[in-house]
Amino acid sequence: MITRICSVNEESLREAKSILSEGGVVAFPTETVYGLAADARRDDAVSEIYRIKGRPSDNPLIVHVHKDYDITQLVFDDRAYAAKLRNAFLPGPLTLVYRSKGKVSKIVSCGLDTLAIRVPSHVGAQMFLRYTDMPLAAPSANLSKHISPVSAQHVYADLNGKIPLILDGGVCTGGIESTVCDVTGDFPVILREGLISREMIEAVTGKCEVYKLKSGEAARSPGMKYKHYAPRCKTRLFEAEESDKAEECFKTCMLQGIKAYVLCEGGVAQRFPQDRVLDLGRSENEMAANLYNLLRQGEAVADLIIAIKPTKQDGIMAGVMNRLSKACANE
Ligand code: TXA
Ligand code: MG
Repeated sequence: MITRICSVNEESLREAKSILSEGGVVAFPTETVYGLAADARRDDAVSEIYRIKGRPSDNPLIVHVHKDYDITQLVFDDRAYAAKLRNAFLPGPLTLVYRSKGKVSKIVSCGLDTLAIRVPSHVGAQMFLRYTDMPLAAPSANLSKHISPVSAQHVYADLNGKIPLILDGGVCTGGIESTVCDVTGDFPVILREGLISREMIEAVTGKCEVYKLKSGEAARSPGMKYKHYAPRCKTRLFEAEESDKAEECFKTCMLQGIKAYVLCEGGVAQRFPQDRVLDLGRSENEMAANLYNLLRQGEAVADLIIAIKPTKQDGIMAGVMNRLSKACANE
């Protein structure tokens, strides 16, 4: 199969709709990462997503809709605080998990009685969702376990020959996936941290918890248990206060002829040779936006990525830290 990259315009949108109407898949841009979309109502189409990505069949998908879509077609909207969250943050990088009405393919939620819905703010994503006018199931458009794509070229690198069309909406400005927040209970529970932080949600609803998987318990968000976001080279992760140790590790690599690159925040970068640094930048938003791009750059040239956690770890950085830790996890 030939994979084409096209900017979002009338012609490419028409083609995208025709592919989706036949049960096919199309990659599209969002403000967080690129998604791989299929008609959420069709078993055959949704199965294609799992097959193409090599995604475990018990990791549910998010359904994407445009900003005027009536979500009560798909879910029960019975919590007053959920409406407050929508008003405050949507369209934007917040996915809400509701009780499902069972109107989309069962494969989307892997048999759970809930459904995750996201309204992306990216202009190209909105055009795509409006033009195709169907609820679209979409995970990130990478091969399962690999780093999420933040450009059309990243999607191409993973899925060339496997999908017919990538809609190109430029580089994603957010850089890490949406916050996934369960709104079925008495108060919101964050299942995956992201660009809408716990603090931001708490400011709107008064209370918000971050779900932590306890050992032996079935994951409330099944995706949590899988290795994710991993570069194809080796990695080592150091705490923010361990930059001395990281420097030692780098020097040892140099002596042994191991090509090591250091992924770290701007303030720490000057400790290492400039041509061996993957510089995350200084602000939270910069670090989120740069992370996946740098991990992809790193895996292309490095034997080893030595990552040093940034100093600030709350707010948006909780999401960045979660992705960085998973990318550098050893299992
Ligand atoms: O920013 C994003 O959310 C991107 C773009 C493309 O929209 N999408 C994305 O999808 O990151 P994916 O499939 O890579 O991650 C979806 C996450 C997984 O952790 C999954 O377990 C969780 O959402 N999820 C989906 N449906 C769920 C449900 N019904 N209950 C609990 N967790 C759910
Ligand atoms: Mg993903």
